[in-house]
Amino acid sequence: MGLRATFSYAGRVVNPIAQPLPTRTGGFGGAAGLIDYLKDHSVTHLIDATNPFAAQISRNAVAACAAAGVPLIALARPPWTPGPGDRWTRVPDVAEAARSLGSTPRRIFLAIGRTEISVFEAKPHHHYLLRFVDAAKERPALPHHDIIIDRGPFAETAERDLLEKHRIDLLVSRNSGGEGARAKIDAARGLGLPILMIDRPDAPQRHEVGTIEEVLDWIAHSVTDRGV
Ligand SMILES: NC(=O)c1ccc[n+]([C@@H]2O[C@H](COP(=O)([O-])OP(=O)(O)OC[C@H]3O[C@@H](n4cnc5c(N)ncnc54)[C@H](OP(=O)(O)O)[C@@H]3O)[C@@H](O)[C@H]2O)c1
Repeated sequence: MGLRATFSYAGRVVNPIAQPLPTRTGGFGGAAGLIDYLKDHSVTHLIDATNPFAAQISRNAVAACAAAGVPLIALARPPWTPGPGDRWTRVPDVAEAARSLGSTPRRIFLAIGRTEISVFEAKPHHHYLLRFVDAAKERPALPHHDIIIDRGPFAETAERDLLEKHRIDLLVSRNSGGEGARAKIDAARGLGLPILMIDRPDAPQRHEVGTIEEVLDWIAHSVTDRGV
């Protein structure tokens, strides 16, 4: 189709995976800043393919596109659902996940990324296994923890080995959905481990699809010879 497109990153990862398209990094300055960006760069279509837990940028995108008259589509990975053998307890957010950890010290794989780790400082008696994409600038203020620097996708056998090696007895995960991050869920099921599964925040009303093919179809049907 010969379209021009740009990836936008929040800048949370120091070394993002290289992409075959131009990228820009950093916030726009709220919905108002995003409106300016859309206009300044003559953007004709916006694809919201962000993480389902990045709720603010998704709200901003809906508001900015409505104001600027730019059509928006969201690529949202379907959430995981528990199946036979899964031992899930669902919680609405990270704060509730931390609150629901008991007083008996546990060995927890806290697979929630870096931004909300500090919430668990209120539960310092547990041992936490943390996995980040980049080395942390500051060590988390958790008295008992191990950090692994690694980037998915991960294989189920490797996740199982990790859970066993660190003698994990509870997995705390966000319901990110998709294939790349689900190996830890499958590994926990295989080992009979319980999971505290954090539900997604509500997404705004928007045109949402579950596959890249549907996004490409949407572009193909809505792009004129003007391009993106
Ligand atoms: N953002 C991500 O790519 C991402 C990826 C994986 C997981 N998460 C998870 O989502 C939760 C919230 O993370 P968050 O603070 O990054 O998201 P957020 O709460 O949705 O966004 C906060 C602000 O970051 C900027 N921002 C976010 N995504 C952007 C993008 N793609 N391009 C440009 N600016 C962007 C925007 O700043 P302005 O208002 O200044 O435009 C936005 O208002 C965390 O738990 C995090 O671990 C986020």
